[in-house]
Amino acid sequence: MNQNELKALVGKEAVKHVQDGMTLGIGTGSTVRYMIDALGQRVAKEGLKIVGVATSDRSAQQAESLGIQIKQLDDVDHLDLTIDGADEIDSNFQGIKGGGAAHLWEKIVAINSRKNMWIVDESKMVEHLGKFPLPLEVIPFGSTHVLQKLDKMGLHPAFRLTPDGHHVLTDSKNYIIDLHLGRIDHPQQLAQTLNGIVGIVEHGLFLNIVNTVIVGHQDGPEVLHARD
Ligand code: 5RP
Repeated sequence: MNQNELKALVGKEAVKHVQDGMTLGIGTGSTVRYMIDALGQRVAKEGLKIVGVATSDRSAQQAESLGIQIKQLDDVDHLDLTIDGADEIDSNFQGIKGGGAAHLWEKIVAINSRKNMWIVDESKMVEHLGKFPLPLEVIPFGSTHVLQKLDKMGLHPAFRLTPDGHHVLTDSKNYIIDLHLGRIDHPQQLAQTLNGIVGIVEHGLFLNIVNTVIVGHQDGPEVLHARD
């Protein structure tokens, strides 16, 4: 199986955990696209009744096109389960997200969800976080000064740009700065530091958030339980 087939495998596996009547957080990314397709099939074939809350405009559009009802987070009183992808997951089930520039909405949805499930192909499982650049969502106003501050702190920041050199914009119309760290030895400490910098709306460290991880391997999906 290639990487896309592994992503499809975990997407299909994840929707087996979705039950009738659930309010479901729907993540963002290429793995989640497969999950939304599989969810759409269950809605069409089984008449599964769920309400989805999407973590990006693109996930909302895909879900609605498949007949999945989407509501805004502020219009639901709780979320039963959120299914999302991840860029890296370490041996302590801490994660990096935001490769798709959606980590702000993803984190808001995740912390308001009773359970969180991440779906990844096996390449995302790492010993230490940080090889994948850590995304920060930043307010455009004054963002060059935020970048310079991060640079002086030795955090190797770079604005995320489109191929034609424009800032990548999030769904909240903010910019993304990626930190090219190589290895993050103290994720909690780094998270605290980043939380204290004015202009950074949210970082992509997802610490102590996930309950269940479904990993796609060549010989099938593996379900790992992180915490309850
Ligand atoms: C988007 C995310 C994604 O979940 C993450 O980037 C994984 O994406 P993919 O499934 O395409 O590898 O955090 O902001």
